[in-house]
Amino acid sequence: MKYELNNHPVHYFPEGEKTSGTPTVLLHQAIDLTASTAWSKAGYTVESLFDKDTFGLFQSEATLLILNCWQNAGLPVSPGFKLDQYHTLIDTQAQHLAAVAHTKLLPATKFPLGIHRIEKRIAEICGTELMAKNPFDNQSVFHFRVVRPRSNDNNPLHRDVWLADYANCINLYLPIAGSNFNTSLSLIPGSHHWPENKVERTREGALIHNTKFNVPAVSNIEGTYEMIRPDPQENEVLVFSPYLIHGGAVNLTPNQTRISIELRLWKKL
Ligand SMILES: [Fe+2]
Repeated sequence: MKYELNNHPVHYFPEGEKTSGTPTVLLHQAIDLTASTAWSKAGYTVESLFDKDTFGLFQSEATLLILNCWQNAGLPVSPGFKLDQYHTLIDTQAQHLAAVAHTKLLPATKFPLGIHRIEKRIAEICGTELMAKNPFDNQSVFHFRVVRPRSNDNNPLHRDVWLADYANCINLYLPIAGSNFNTSLSLIPGSHHWPENKVERTREGALIHNTKFNVPAVSNIEGTYEMIRPDPQENEVLVFSPYLIHGGAVNLTPNQTRISIELRLWKKL
């Protein structure tokens, strides 16, 4: 798969069996939480998050939480540690994976300032009541995504809904540290309305450069498309459809780790 990001050529070559789908549009068989919004055609939006004081508290809680996760993983961090310097603590891939295990699948009860505040704000953005609880498996979780500079830490291009249990939701990317135009999540606007046969992908979770991913990887796209980095700023949130093709967000900086919160919400039952 070859594409351009920030006018920079990127390529990856996933191993294993590939598949191209049918003319079906997965979104058209699902609950589309973008449907009643002004951004339904693009499939994403960048919105303000909280008032200034609330955001300050949110950022402090999020910072303490991830530092605590890293301490639990045995990393030598103190309260003043600059989050975007995470990569300076890591010598091996095994060490990174051990740390990542502590920053994913965090219970929603630990969400900074409480899960109801973010549920309410995203419900306002989507124009419908939402809950951070997966109705397929009843999990209420969120993740810190940690992508080191010039690494293979980022997921390849994918739709979340190629994995089980992510149908019908809406997805958040919330910048915490080192998130900028050269590091933040990339996506293909409008691709949530593409038929499956426009895209070739790996049948299973991708294996790329000896790194195994949960998500299948896009290996080819028919026709033209544009990949962008919406680049939400401090106190902003990127809200996007899990049916959009996204990922492939290589960290192009030399010395900043990108850290973001990932959270999924479903229509309140
Ligand atoms: Fe994803």
